[in-house]
Amino acid sequence: MKVILTGVTGFIGSEVFTQCCANPAITSIIALTRRPLSANITKDPQVEIIIMKDFITYSKELIEQLEGADACIWSMGTKEGRRDIEIDYPLAFCHAMAPIVARQKKPFRYIHLSGRLAEQDQSRCLLFLSEGRRIKGKAELEILDFENSEEELHGGYWQSYIAKPSMVLKQQKRGDKCELRWLSVFIGSVDVDELAAAMIDVGRNGSEEPVFNNAEVVMRGRAALDTDLECYDPGYVKSSWSLW
Ligand SMILES: NC(=O)c1ccc[n+]([C@@H]2O[C@H](COP(=O)([O-])OP(=O)(O)OC[C@H]3O[C@@H](n4cnc5c(N)ncnc54)[C@H](OP(=O)(O)O)[C@@H]3O)[C@@H](O)[C@H]2O)c1
Repeated sequence: MKVILTGVTGFIGSEVFTQCCANPAITSIIALTRRPLSANITKDPQVEIIIMKDFITYSKELIEQLEGADACIWSMGTKEGRRDIEIDYPLAFCHAMAPIVARQKKPFRYIHLSGRLAEQDQSRCLLFLSEGRRIKGKAELEILDFENSEEELHGGYWQSYIAKPSMVLKQQKRGDKCELRWLSVFIGSVDVDELAAAMIDVGRNGSEEPVFNNAEVVMRGRAALDTDLECYDPGYVKSSWSLW
């Protein structure tokens, strides 16, 4: 299976990347990034790193490199919710990828990392972080809509999914203290390895429901980790990245 990833330099995207590398079902990884990654990552023969000048323009050469992909896990994003990063970049990817998907005549799964607080109802009054939450909610709407409204472009093979985690926590090692973990009692949380595993699992197997809330992400991620961990590459070490 060939997977396209973004956000691989980030907290969540780096865990998605690590798990994809360790998963024997994933044979090819294309990482779209704005800055180079470390040399030991780029040495891996199954990984191709593509440095993007911008995330709007997709050259003919780049389109050729994306050919054959089965899924994309879009982990790029900002906490504050910037319109270009949250909406324009992913939509530009969808439009560039759709004709390839139509030619391939096989399902293509696009998994978009959003957040619990993203608000799809654009007229709802929000008490905090209102603009960013509306922008992220608008991105969700446009990505979900892309599956139906652009059928002519992707030939009906496109599947959009949205993950809406609450607080994402680093995987704890025994004895580690995580000051924010108590907060999850009130707002919910998911460990970063569970979130990554859930998104990869949706990329591999699809899902009846296009939107995953935090509890669904946790459930799917735990189930996927239970199934997949034993066949992961022995080099895979559960994440220990810092929280933010
Ligand atoms: N962390 C959480 O608890 C949490 C919870 C719910 C939802 N989320 C959402 O999940 C997404 C990722 O979160 P995260 O914690 O992994 O964030 P992060 O560590 O800041 O990573 C963000 C990623 O996006 C990339 N990026 C940001 N601005 C970019 C730009 N202008 N052009 C190209 N790439 C850009 C970064 O690349 P560079 O390294 O090059 O900057 C990085 O790879 C965000 O949308 C966030 O709102 C996070």
